Amino acid sequence: MNINVIGVPLFYGCDRKGVDLSPNKLRENGIIKIIENHNHNVYDMGNIYVPEVSEEDKYAEHSKMKYLKEIVDVNKNLAHQVYTSISSGNFPLVIGGDHALGLGSLKGVNRKYSKLAVVWIDAHGDINTHETTPSGNIHGMPLAAAMGIGHENLTSLYYHGVNVDPENVFLIAARDLDEGETKIIKDNKINLYSTNNIKELGIEAIMKDVIDKLKAKDIDAVHLSFDIDCLDSNLVPGTGTPVGDGINISEGKYALKSLLETKLVCSLDFVELNTKLDSSDKTLNLCLDLIDWISEHL
Ligand code: ARG
Ligand code: MN
Ligand code: MN
Ligand code: MN
Repeated sequence: MNINVIGVPLFYGCDRKGVDLSPNKLRENGIIKIIENHNHNVYDMGNIYVPEVSEEDKYAEHSKMKYLKEIVDVNKNLAHQVYTSISSGNFPLVIGGDHALGLGSLKGVNRKYSKLAVVWIDAHGDINTHETTPSGNIHGMPLAAAMGIGHENLTSLYYHGVNVDPENVFLIAARDLDEGETKIIKDNKINLYSTNNIKELGIEAIMKDVIDKLKAKDIDAVHLSFDIDCLDSNLVPGTGTPVGDGINISEGKYALKSLLETKLVCSLDFVELNTKLDSSDKTLNLCLDLIDWISEHL
């Protein structure tokens, strides 16, 4: 497979420095070679440019969304790069950076595939809007925007007129949802598989259900968004919003493998590694291992 590695050194979405260093940190630690070892042609597209802006200006554009203008600018460029990659028959592997990059990657993929499903593996829903957000952090909003829910600057930042149908959205490993998010999930009939559901029924049964549903749907492709905080907080000290009672590594790997084996997945985000918060490279090494696993099953 031809893989375009696209780095997005963005921390404005989580308002905490350190995640922005990860695309280069992963490169320095051999991510490209790791992917190539699985017989892929890898084209490293470098990093999307992220403009500098001072702390005092974070609410300059909107009182409830930090760094709105910069995040929109970065994601316009990302969306177009993802669209171009897919349209050229390649697989975009988008490396974060925080999860606000999901705004651009989803809009880019959605331009190519209007009948798109999204699998969001995350402790969080990332389905807030400027009206429901408890933090003002835009990394808590990309999935809502992909469905056309939320502020216009986010919902229509790239290609107009296409949105993801909420019934084609699958949230996996969620366990830290805000009140407003829970309401959006219910009102829009989003498919929710909480960490509790996984512990009760087992990851195999959960993934079987997800994949059966995906296969029964009238969709052209699946976008997979992987937030490393889906894993238990003990496993990922190097992430900004860790949550306990999470899934373990083999559950995470099972979810990834089973989805990739369907061959429906056309693009993937890998986000929220913060090497500044890490303890003795534990999370960095786990991420390299997960990228190896993903590459093996692509
Ligand atoms: N729900 C919280 C918020 O809106 C946390 C979001 C965390 N998102 C993430 N991509 N780690 O601020
Ligand atoms: Mn998360
Ligand atoms: Mn997330
Ligand atoms: Mn391997």
